[in-house]
Amino acid sequence: MKVLITGGAKELGRAFSGVLAAQGHQLVLTGRDEEALAIAEAELKAQGAAVEAHVADLGDPHATAKLIESLGGIDVLVNNGALGGPVGPTWQVDENDWWHTFEVNLRGTAFAANAAIRTMTSGRIINVVSNAGVHRWPYVTAYSVSKAAVVKLTENLAVELKHRPIAVLSYDPGMVDIGLMRRGAEMDSGDPHQRKISEWARSQRAAGRFTPVEQSADLLARIVRGEFDHLSGGLITPKDS
Ligand SMILES: NC(=O)c1ccc[n+]([C@@H]2O[C@H](COP(=O)([O-])OP(=O)(O)OC[C@H]3O[C@@H](n4cnc5c(N)ncnc54)[C@H](OP(=O)(O)O)[C@@H]3O)[C@@H](O)[C@H]2O)c1
Repeated sequence: MKVLITGGAKELGRAFSGVLAAQGHQLVLTGRDEEALAIAEAELKAQGAAVEAHVADLGDPHATAKLIESLGGIDVLVNNGALGGPVGPTWQVDENDWWHTFEVNLRGTAFAANAAIRTMTSGRIINVVSNAGVHRWPYVTAYSVSKAAVVKLTENLAVELKHRPIAVLSYDPGMVDIGLMRRGAEMDSGDPHQRKISEWARSQRAAGRFTPVEQSADLLARIVRGEFDHLSGGLITPKDS
């Protein structure tokens, strides 16, 4: 299958692309970081994968959509790329940073999904969300509220697509010791809100509540294969599978 993964060259997205490449999928990786994209492309090609990498900033409303349209159809879109957004009381954080997080996490996801739906005959769209989009995560509200919006977008798109063979699923990969969560746990800051978040993240890790990255990536690969299409509109997470 031809799978486009936004943010597929780094961190959790790179773990996803590694497993998908090993399973023989043809990959298209996007992100902002040209160097990371080139490295991931070379590593995956060295493993024998068919892969292409493109700079496409999700903050640009048209970049990912244009790329998807130029590819002439994909089978699966993994909307993985996202920002963690500013940390602190909502009324104190930089409002431009707060809103930009929505532009990337919500508009970026929605417009990529729209382009995929317009060009695909069948397949699936997987929106990577978070526990933060289901439960309240105070002091990271741009992240939490934008991910909550993506959960609702998934539910609505699934109904609108019920007469077409396109599934739309939310995927919460669990708390994984990589990327945002690892940086959160390792943040060493004098800021009391950042410190609170990093202490909480470390306590979750110490309590064994993190999901191993391999488990998280393996479940994503099962969703990519279509094993959960019958649950279109729903939220899949390693805790329930
Ligand atoms: N790590 C966890 O424990 C965890 C838990 C729950 C959910 N998630 C979700 O999993 C996904 C990946 O998280 P992560 O931990 O790997 O985060 P990360 O380390 O911050 O990586 C974010 C990824 O998104 C890409 N990205 C960010 N802004 C972008 C933009 N404007 N345009 C295009 N790409 C952009 C980055 O690539 P560039 O820098 O090249 O742009 C990078 O590949 C996110 O959706 C996150 O919400 C992660």
